[in-house]
Amino acid sequence: MIQCRVAVAARKGGVGKTTIACGVASVLAKQGRQVLVIDLDPQSNAAYALGVDPTAPGTAELLMGNAPDPLEAASGLAVLPGGPNLTGQSVQSLHPEDLADLVKVMPYDAVVLDCPPGNESLERLGLVAAQATLVVTNAHPFAIIGANRVMGLLESYRSRERRGPKQWALILSQVDERRSLDKELPAQLVQRYSDIKHFTVHQDTNLSQAGAQQIPLMDYAPRSRSAAELTTIAQWITETVHD
Ligand SMILES: Nc1ncnc2c1ncn2[C@@H]1O[C@H](COP(=O)(O)OP(=O)(O)OP(=O)(O)O)[C@@H](O)[C@H]1O
Ligand SMILES: [Mg+2]
Repeated sequence: MIQCRVAVAARKGGVGKTTIACGVASVLAKQGRQVLVIDLDPQSNAAYALGVDPTAPGTAELLMGNAPDPLEAASGLAVLPGGPNLTGQSVQSLHPEDLADLVKVMPYDAVVLDCPPGNESLERLGLVAAQATLVVTNAHPFAIIGANRVMGLLESYRSRERRGPKQWALILSQVDERRSLDKELPAQLVQRYSDIKHFTVHQDTNLSQAGAQQIPLMDYAPRSRSAAELTTIAQWITETVHD
């Protein structure tokens, strides 16, 4: 079995990483895969958004050598919650490949790693464990700077033939074409990163409501525009990832 592992990262906070991670995981599970979401965020938002106990033992305990049971959010969709233990010294001082080693042998067809904002050591654990990365930005210049930093790191791993993603795509998130920055963004980014695959996820209340109501997207709004956009991204992941 080829296990497909994708990280979702941005460096910047609040740009839609968790929303996209949970949405893509929901799509992959609805397609019949056994999917694990690994929440690498001390905020544990992915666990909350998918409707499982965000305070249960999860990713931190896995990294500390225990065997926490992933929590079932929906059929085929399991979650290892994040939580404040991820900021402890024992996790922060791990080798970047430690999570990769643990995840690779887990019995899931697809693993989605939701990286936190601002914490580079946790982000690195997620990136190195993945074969592909969704680098998320919205139209704000600070977010574009954050995405650029993540892509710079990925490029440095790839050029030095280090373990980690060989492919990445840029996700233009929270796009609302009525806003002038959002109208200009896609063309600018396509020009600047012409060699990188792009996807757009529009601003959509179905996405914020699914998270707030703690229902996976494909159970909440399977026929929404967001569901279609995330299905396109999920398809790229499954077609692109090779072990
Ligand atoms: N495309 C979208 N349409 C509508 N609301 C969105 C969209 N993407 C994200 N949101 C909302 O924006 C907020 C931030 O999203 P989210 O938590 O996914 O971002 P994040 O990058 O994971 O944040 P953090 O850096 O704190 O982990 C949430 O309230 C979420 O519901
Ligand atoms: Mg998040």
